[in-house]
Amino acid sequence: MNLPIRMRRLRASESMRRLVRGVGLSADNFVYPLFVCPGTKVKKPIESMENCFHFSPDMIIEEAKEIFELGIPAVLLFGLPERKDSTGSAAFDDNGPVQQAIRNIKKAVPQLLVITDVCLCAYTDSGHCGIIKDNKIDNDASCEILAKTALSHAKAGADVVAPSDMMDARVGVIRKTLDENGFADTAIMAYSAKYASAFYGPFRDAAQSSPVFGDRKTYQMDAACSAKQAMREIELDIAEGADIVMVKPAIAYLDIIYQAKQRFDVPIAAYYVSGEYMMINAAAKQNLLDRKAAVFETLTAIKRAGADIIITYFAKEAVKWIAK
Ligand code: PBG
Repeated sequence: MNLPIRMRRLRASESMRRLVRGVGLSADNFVYPLFVCPGTKVKKPIESMENCFHFSPDMIIEEAKEIFELGIPAVLLFGLPERKDSTGSAAFDDNGPVQQAIRNIKKAVPQLLVITDVCLCAYTDSGHCGIIKDNKIDNDASCEILAKTALSHAKAGADVVAPSDMMDARVGVIRKTLDENGFADTAIMAYSAKYASAFYGPFRDAAQSSPVFGDRKTYQMDAACSAKQAMREIELDIAEGADIVMVKPAIAYLDIIYQAKQRFDVPIAAYYVSGEYMMINAAAKQNLLDRKAAVFETLTAIKRAGADIIITYFAKEAVKWIAK
């Protein structure tokens, strides 16, 4: 007897679909990025990124409380400095906007994890993620400044530091610096497989971090490289002491997330970046798609591919939707 196999039996009702789903999104999965600017009493909408704001360190407290009450376990802080220079020295100013914001958040909402982006592009006058020597990014000198920056964040109370610069060996230098200064408990989430992507456009506007000359292709990865290069980057970061590794962007690199999850035993984070975020917002604004459904579909895809942690500007909304 040739009975048909009826796949539709398991799709017959919402309860049945819920039961067999397997891939579920939870507030636990999300990290919400925040932008810290100098000054006081500032909460200014970011033009290039819908529903995102620049917060001064005093104003970020209320926002952090709201995020924690929504059930999101962590925020990722980006900073805008008062001044830029050739060495990005404002990045390790113990009284900079990020450092102040860390102290304020940890005091007001101690259980909310504070992750800090460790990079120089918003702090250097070149807009590059490292410092320049002889018209080149000086890898090892940059690592020293990145480590100073990570230490400054740890001293302010950051739970996790997240280097996003893509210099070689920076995770090891940061780990050593943290350990030698009594911060063995500060974790590292490494932007390990970070690609030179067109999808960072809206963010660079928000962080005022576009390179003044050239591009980031000598340090960020080439999208057309085989996934093996991404695996090697991740492997090196784990060997140097990364506790969590990241693939970035997310939607355009689901294959990399998938392979990283198959291969490594550390938690895998994926960064659903600003351009990916604004693509959906822009399409929804033109009534081309159902925004909420499209957001869920893409977040689910990132989770299904293997991400344990999703860094997304949609986090607050997604968590409210999930709760309903
Ligand atoms: C800094 C950094 C960037 C992003 C996160 N950290 C931009 C870049 O590399 O130019 C992008 C985040 C986003 O687009 O949402 N190096």
